[in-house]
Amino acid sequence: MKLTPGQKIWFYNTGWILWISGGAWWIFHRPGLSIPWLLAIHGAAAMIFLVVFGVLIPTHIKKGRAAGKNLASGHTLIAVTVGLAVTGYGLYYSGNETLRAWTSAAHSILGLGSPLLIAWHLFFRRKRRRFRRPGL
Ligand code: HEM
Ligand code: HEM
Repeated sequence: MKLTPGQKIWFYNTGWILWISGGAWWIFHRPGLSIPWLLAIHGAAAMIFLVVFGVLIPTHIKKGRAAGKNLASGHTLIAVTVGLAVTGYGLYYSGNETLRAWTSAAHSILGLGSPLLIAWHLFFRRKRRRFRRPGL
């Protein structure tokens, strides 16, 4: 169920690059101030992140589900990742301005909130570990 060291490196590094690049764009983006390189980094990290996610499906996710642990936060993480991919796709291709505004808001909320979800997913792992330690 644990991620391999390689999976952890790819997951956490693409994760924080996505969050910082998306968050910085969200904060600094103004009409007239163009920072396209932030979204260029964001798009590249997003593609790598989806590969990492794909690697986790037959490994981590399959084992976690079979073990029946972290099910609620795990399934929410899957839903949010799919939601980010769908709304990210929408940002590229939605022609309609109203739809684009909604897609942008949904993507930003899911993205900015995602560290809380990771914290929830990791919280129960740590708690179980403390219980398992002899003498505590
Ligand atoms: C239903 C789906 C999932 C289940 C049942 C599940 C289950 C678990 C469990 C039980 C652990 C604790 C492992 C331990 O004790 O060390 C864990 C850790 C973790 N999970 Fe999941 N997970 C799911 C989906 C996901 C998804 C979709 C992601 C990423 C997008 C993810 C990322 C992680 C990470 C980064 C850790 C910490 C690994 C570590 O530090 O070793 N999980 N998961
Ligand atoms: C699976 C993860 C993610 C994927 C696949 C993804 C994908 C994308 C894509 C394709 C775009 C459009 C880029 C463009 O218009 O040139 C985008 C924009 C954006 N992303 Fe993400 N992203 C992900 C995670 C995140 C996270 C974690 C944040 C956190 C802050 C975030 C915040 C943003 C913001 C603020 C924008 C600009 C929105 C706009 O144009 O109105 N994204 N993302």
